[in-house]
Amino acid sequence: MSVAGVPTRQARTLPFVRSLARHARTPVHAFEEASAQASGELVRLNMGPFRPYLITHPDHVQHVLKTNQPNYIRAGMFWDPLAPLLGQGILSDGEGWAASRKILQPVFTARYVNSLTESMAGIVTELIDAVVAPGRPLDIAEVMSAVIHPTIVRLFLGATISDADIDRLAPAYDTGVTARSIRLLLPFVPQRFPLPGDGAFKNAIRTIDDVVYPRIHYARARGGDADLVSRLCRAREGEPGADRLIRDDMVAIHGAATETSVTALTWVWPVLDAHPAIAAKVYEEIDRVVGRGPVTMAHLAELTYLRMFVDELVRLYPPGWILPRTVVRTDEIDGVEVAAGSTVVLSPFLTHRLPEFWDRPLEFDPERFAAGGANRHRYAYFPFAAGPHVCLGPHLFLMEALLVIAGILAKYRPVLHGSGPVTPRLASTLRPATGLTMTLVPASRA
Ligand code: HEM
Repeated sequence: MSVAGVPTRQARTLPFVRSLARHARTPVHAFEEASAQASGELVRLNMGPFRPYLITHPDHVQHVLKTNQPNYIRAGMFWDPLAPLLGQGILSDGEGWAASRKILQPVFTARYVNSLTESMAGIVTELIDAVVAPGRPLDIAEVMSAVIHPTIVRLFLGATISDADIDRLAPAYDTGVTARSIRLLLPFVPQRFPLPGDGAFKNAIRTIDDVVYPRIHYARARGGDADLVSRLCRAREGEPGADRLIRDDMVAIHGAATETSVTALTWVWPVLDAHPAIAAKVYEEIDRVVGRGPVTMAHLAELTYLRMFVDELVRLYPPGWILPRTVVRTDEIDGVEVAAGSTVVLSPFLTHRLPEFWDRPLEFDPERFAAGGANRHRYAYFPFAAGPHVCLGPHLFLMEALLVIAGILAKYRPVLHGSGPVTPRLASTLRPATGLTMTLVPASRA
């Protein structure tokens, strides 16, 4: 019964397991199909013994992420597989999350992010020069990771970290977020029941801990607040179990910052390739503002079209494509009962493509984000989530994205290999389905 005495309806259930079987190679299509069938209605997805609610309507998103947020916690079948990696801090929920958020939120001030951006500009330029081999085929995800990962590691874990440790962390994180993807499709399998990928996952955590704990000890011994780990050491000084708490936040933030950024920036290149007129505008702006580089912080405010391009990029390809929550107490959304203990799944990927809220939703069009542009529902666009758990890094990400894209395009033009549309693959983040490759040719000759 609802609060007003009107009986609540049961959600319509869609035969999702059949769609998944039909789209076994591209499960993301099964989600798109379900969203089209639901058309904004709150539905359940029949996955055999598991029947999560699918939430796509912006009003419902607002209810779960903001209005009744404490009732929808980050725990349960989707989060538990990653808990040994992410720990009990900022990417968990409840008291551990609240304590971490209280420490981290004031750290990520505009002033701090700007200071990071200044250091980042130098690091990114240096890495692009080191990583880009012009004229040779490059694996796009590898190149993005080779630029972004060391940048974030040096900013967060300190400039003195060794290259060997940086090199160990990247594949360990990669394994950490992908090795247990199979559990996303089999969320009803208990954690104690072994599945392929579990061993690799454990090894990845061991490698990450081997690198991160010594950095915590080093930062504490040295003092100061030159990097994020030093700031966290200061904030948690004298707290029982501080090492573990700092480790959890460092690993969670690092994971949140790198995996999402690499994924987002991997999509830049197939999108430029598929939209020559938009690419021409991007190139024109970078040529005009930055010339042949290097990109500095002063250029970033002038890269207005590129900024719109990035906003549109994370609309169509939001790296955090799926946000699952567990329902604490039975609730009602729009007259539909949402049962305690069940899972609700929000998806920026699906909401950002709803024809009810977006004009030409599948068309890549940066102009949607022009200043004074369309008036849209506040919760129709949430690539960085919303409410109390809203991402801490949107500004940092934007600065990093502009530095990396403009840094590469100031010198080079991409030539993509392969043809046809690129589809996303199912993992905790929305990565392109296949290994994408491109050749970067000098811009002066393109
Ligand atoms: C393209 C880049 C990024 C995207 C799309 C993204 C997206 C998101 C999303 C969707 C969430 C909410 C997850 C959930 O509650 O289920 C989140 C949380 C978070 N993100 Fe980001 N993120 C990005 C970059 C970054 C960066 C650069 C940082 C670095 C500081 C960061 C730090 C965090 C943290 C700490 C949280 C947890 C906040 C909390 O629960 O209180 N993210 N992010």
